[in-house]
Amino acid sequence: MFAKPIEHRGIPSLVISAWKTVVCVFLLVILQCCSGKQDQKVFRIGFSQCLGSDDWRRTMLEEMKRELSFHNNIEFIYRDADAISERQVSQIGELVASGIDLLIVCPNEVEPLTPVIGKIYDSGIPVVVVDRRINSKKYTAFIGASNYEVGQNAGVYAASLLKGTGNIIEMSGLPAGASPPIDRHNGFMNIISKYPGLRLVKQVDNLEDEEQVLKSDEGINLIYAQNDQMALEAFNICRKLGLEKKIRIIGIDGLPTRGGGLEMVEKGTIAATVLYPTGGQESILTAVNILEKGHFLKDNQLSTTIIDSSNIRITRLQNQKVTSQQNDIDRRQHKIEQQEIIKKNQDRIIIGISITLLIFLILAAILFYYLKTNKKITRRLAHQNEEILQQRNQLIELGKKAKEATDAKFNFFTSISHELRTPLTLILGPAEEILSSPKLPVPVRSQLEMMKKNATRLLRLVNELMDFRKIEEAKMKIRVSENDITEFVREITNAFAATVARKKITCRVISEVEGLKAWFDVNMLDKILFNLLANALKYTSEHGFINVVISTDALCGNILIKVEDSGIGMEPETLEHAFDLFYQGDDARYRGTGLGLALSKELIILHHGSITIKSEKGKGATFEVLLRPGKDHFEEADLEKTPRPYELNQEEAQIFINEAQPLNTEPPGEKEATVFAQSILLIEDNPEIRLFLKNQLGKMFEIIEAENGDTGLELAFDMIPDLILSDVLLPGKNGMLITEILKNDLRTSHIPIIILTAMGSVEQQIDGLKLNADAYIVKPFNIRCLEETIRSLLNNRESLKGHYTSELSLQPGRVTSKKIDRKFINEFSAIVENNISNEHFGVNDICLQMGISRVPLYRKVKAVLGYSINEYIMNVRLQKAKYLLLNEDISISEISFRVGFASPTYFATVFKTKLGITPKSFKEKGHAD
Ligand code: FRU
Repeated sequence: MFAKPIEHRGIPSLVISAWKTVVCVFLLVILQCCSGKQDQKVFRIGFSQCLGSDDWRRTMLEEMKRELSFHNNIEFIYRDADAISERQVSQIGELVASGIDLLIVCPNEVEPLTPVIGKIYDSGIPVVVVDRRINSKKYTAFIGASNYEVGQNAGVYAASLLKGTGNIIEMSGLPAGASPPIDRHNGFMNIISKYPGLRLVKQVDNLEDEEQVLKSDEGINLIYAQNDQMALEAFNICRKLGLEKKIRIIGIDGLPTRGGGLEMVEKGTIAATVLYPTGGQESILTAVNILEKGHFLKDNQLSTTIIDSSNIRITRLQNQKVTSQQNDIDRRQHKIEQQEIIKKNQDRIIIGISITLLIFLILAAILFYYLKTNKKITRRLAHQNEEILQQRNQLIELGKKAKEATDAKFNFFTSISHELRTPLTLILGPAEEILSSPKLPVPVRSQLEMMKKNATRLLRLVNELMDFRKIEEAKMKIRVSENDITEFVREITNAFAATVARKKITCRVISEVEGLKAWFDVNMLDKILFNLLANALKYTSEHGFINVVISTDALCGNILIKVEDSGIGMEPETLEHAFDLFYQGDDARYRGTGLGLALSKELIILHHGSITIKSEKGKGATFEVLLRPGKDHFEEADLEKTPRPYELNQEEAQIFINEAQPLNTEPPGEKEATVFAQSILLIEDNPEIRLFLKNQLGKMFEIIEAENGDTGLELAFDMIPDLILSDVLLPGKNGMLITEILKNDLRTSHIPIIILTAMGSVEQQIDGLKLNADAYIVKPFNIRCLEETIRSLLNNRESLKGHYTSELSLQPGRVTSKKIDRKFINEFSAIVENNISNEHFGVNDICLQMGISRVPLYRKVKAVLGYSINEYIMNVRLQKAKYLLLNEDISISEISFRVGFASPTYFATVFKTKLGITPKSFKEKGHAD
């Protein structure tokens, strides 16, 4: 109806779009954090070292590692062969089998390693050879200084140091099969050989056994050691021999480490060292370039130089600088690593926070959605609530109005009831007075008794109605006093003694305890007991029993009064509503005023007690009244101030006694043996109305009685009565249904039906008449009026019969008032007509052809046509004979055969007997007329 405010539309959409943005940002952050270097390929590099235990090779490994720290995508696997070539071969095999992408190898010896390296190279795995050469070109790259050049450098320095003259010892020391010792020797010799004054005295692995040579006269001037380590050994031996000043030493490697070549030069331990770079960094760089398809050279020769006292200072400084830079790089590297760890941790935290935030956002969104939905539901509920409230107010209003209307009705009925009490008392008094006369004729006594009984019932009804009103308006005050309940119950039950005796009922009062005291209102409890006893008597047939049992509940002391009978019992439906006000169920046998039990219940409620019922159809009923012990449950005001001994309320008792009294249904005497011409089937469940009608109509008609619909219907078919008088509301089939069935059945369709009912709406009457009921009479009816209706309907039937029989089927098809009867007559007369010449034709043939059994056919024909079947056939034969005698020129004997007589003589006899004239005379006379 109204446009929604803008804010209401704006806020949710803003929130949603903001939420979407945040979610996207977080997803990106998470992706970023998670992705990292995942797309970078990781390479496995295997490094096979011939021997890893000396400083030079340790330095090589450190350089490699330092370089590797810049390449995060490299997995580095290191193996040390401990200077054993076979071991190195097998270690290389293992590295290849573990799936390396590239092999760096420092071959221990040339011969054993060359084929292995060539094979790996052939298999497609790149191979970088470091430091020592192999005997083939089957490698991807070589990194290392030229050992020949190293030897030459040493040679040049030795020549200059010895000024072209002197004796030299060379210390090889390195594995003989490796390439450096050969190259270094050759390079050295290449230079020395140019100086005739220079002589290589000896080539040894160590100096331990060379003391003699060193001390000899000709003397040794220089030792050429193929690495600084051997140079130090040489120095130590020379010092031991006191030759350290005389013999100069040259080493190789020039390591900047503690005790390394540079320090030895600095201290003057050795004269010089030839720098031999390890190539650790270069080999990793080359390997990475190979793997990442970058630029690289196959042979990479590292520079070498001689370091002696002239350049040691600058070299040391440079080295220190490089070392400090290296340390710097290491520190930075370490810092970077730390930063990376921190970053990784931060990434994790960010991811954690992002996920938490995302969850929080999702939860917030869900919460928001639920809040929104909740708000909607609350709004809808509020709306519904409002509607319900309105409806409730309307209902309250309607209820008020209904109550006002009901109250008005009740007040009206109460006033009327009140007004009825006096006339009823004035009817009852004289009626009882007349009844007390012993000389009363039986029919008059019977009528008077019915008057008395019904006036009593009306009086009870009026009393109950007024009591009910009092309770409703809370004007009925309970007055309890303590009384002997056993005595009280016995006295009330005794009041019904005469009726009990008359109905030959066994009635006993059984009490567990004599003199049992209880608090109750005597004028209320007596009404309850009158009611229960009258009911029990009313519905218990002769020779039945009624037990009134008084007991106490051992547990709580409650007092129980049970009224148990062997009467007709109740249907479950009736039982359920037994205490409902004005409830009159379908069970016509148990139909009371609908007030008595409801009133009893209200009176018991005033006692804070209860009343219950147990019953089964055909198995009697048990009412149980429960009273609570003592008086604590009553108000002080409820207690009778001045209790008086109970005296039976005679007037009240009489009303209930009259009610329970069976009607004198004896037939009005032997004189009524008269046989009436016509019968009436009376279907009525109320025995009193049935008796009344029977008494009235029995003077003129035979009365067949049925107390329920099913019996009524059965009797209608069995007896084919002349008229049916039926109530509408009946146990079993109701009056309307009975009418419908009977009027549609050939055997009974002719029977006039009068519907007699208390339900007198015009619609109901029309419904009844539509079903072809002949009359509809509303209760209370005027008996004269009813008698007249019956008479007129029966007369109509008679005249119809005259109508059919006067025609005697000679002109079938004439209009009749009842379609179904006309059909029957047509069919019946046609059969007779068609068989008229058959002398053996009779009732059985008609039954066969019409499909009706003998008795109903007989009754139907008698009812509709007024003749027996044989009489009718005979009449038709004679009518036809008359016709033939007058109209056809054929002999009498021929006519007698044509109309089904066995002989002309028999025909003449019957004709004469029935018509008082012989056929012959009839023919002559007829012609003469
Ligand atoms: C170390 C070493 C070095 C030398 C190199 C030759 O094992 O002996 O001193 O320069 O190997 O391969």
